[in-house]
Amino acid sequence: MSMAATPLLRNRAEAFPSPALRGAIEVPGDKSMSHRALILGALADGTTRIAGLLEGRDVLHTAEAVRRFGATAERIAPGAWHVTGTRWRSPVIPVDCGNSGTGVRLLMGAAAGFSLAALFTGDRSLSKRPMERVLDPLRAMGAGFDASEGGRLPVRLRGGTLGGLCFRNERASAQVKSAILLAGLQAQGEVEVVEPVPTRDHMENMLRAFGCEVEICDEADGRHIRLGGRRALAATSVRIPGDPSSAAFPLVAGLLVPGSEIILRSVMVNPLRAGLFATLAEMGADLRLDDARSMSGEQVADIKVRFGPLHGVVVPAERAPSMIDEYPILAVAAAFATGRTVMHGLAELRVKESDRLAAIVAGLRACGVDAWDEGDTLILEGCGGPPPGGADVAAHDDHRIAMSFLVLGLASQNPVSVDSAGMIATSFPGFAMLMRSLGARIS
Ligand code: S3P
Repeated sequence: MSMAATPLLRNRAEAFPSPALRGAIEVPGDKSMSHRALILGALADGTTRIAGLLEGRDVLHTAEAVRRFGATAERIAPGAWHVTGTRWRSPVIPVDCGNSGTGVRLLMGAAAGFSLAALFTGDRSLSKRPMERVLDPLRAMGAGFDASEGGRLPVRLRGGTLGGLCFRNERASAQVKSAILLAGLQAQGEVEVVEPVPTRDHMENMLRAFGCEVEICDEADGRHIRLGGRRALAATSVRIPGDPSSAAFPLVAGLLVPGSEIILRSVMVNPLRAGLFATLAEMGADLRLDDARSMSGEQVADIKVRFGPLHGVVVPAERAPSMIDEYPILAVAAAFATGRTVMHGLAELRVKESDRLAAIVAGLRACGVDAWDEGDTLILEGCGGPPPGGADVAAHDDHRIAMSFLVLGLASQNPVSVDSAGMIATSFPGFAMLMRSLGARIS
């Protein structure tokens, strides 16, 4: 993808800093659920109706991918999609997953049990990310994969008959677990994933909604997730709530910009995604979850946030899977806090859309914050108020790094710009507009 037309976003200097943020907004649908709804719909018997699908670039690549495997995916209205499943067949052209690690890894699992050949590709960032984490277990089930050097994309799949697998998910990756469960839908034999630390369980919840038998049992060595004998999927209706990983940006902005008070409606608050809320509460944040309810098997609430002081905390490594995508924006919140914040267990941040640990440290330093990494730990000294800011931050074509530093710039002493903002549309189309609707000065 060419970066030539990538817009540059900045906090508008002539109207700086942002006035108090006020209002009630809904963020776009959850990305993890959106990928899963399209893929399960494409495997199910009948037509699945999806409401609230995230129409970010990552998910649109998955929609195109399931079409290439023979399914039908039609956009009926904004966020409303109909997906009709089929037996997957060989795509005639490569399956381009764009920037999406979730898309490519889940699709490789879903396709592995069909008698087909496929070539998976991705953009520059995705082509640097490790794929062996899913290729190894899928090979152990019987799938054939030829990867490029270092286990990277492009990856060629020769799918076929699969056997069972019992896999210990030491890396605490929901993508790996989900790829194995998807492959297991076509496999003969027992398929079980054991999680020493549980990861997001949207795949388990959604498989059940599509009629697949999934047993979940907490034992001494971790959580056991087992596919039952009934693995055929029947089309259903899925309503996708707001993405907590996207809600995190306006939420933290509301905590940092003086006088702010905002409401984020219909945000998914699955406990395995709620690590950021718990951490911010420990830091003294004024945030409240109201009107808890359920939507398509997931917990949903309205989140009310008010500006207020924060203090530094130690975030334990075990919490990482429940907030793995939220560390960049947590680091921004910690930069305004009083005292030191230490975040442990961040090794996986090195292999996200960018080396996020390095990108956070460099961005914070450019904004005048004392921050450093020690192995897989991030340490930063909070400024006890607005940090200096005033930098053009390198976003490394990473949507979450770009959004995090734009939020920092809403309340720092000097405006901040980011060198590339085009990638924000992979997960949060309309980010700048939605923030402006709350009063944020971003242009
Ligand atoms: C995701 C799992 C996480 C997360 C990603 C979405 C998913 O990745 O970072 O944005 O939908 O399963 P890992 O499984 O690599 O931790």
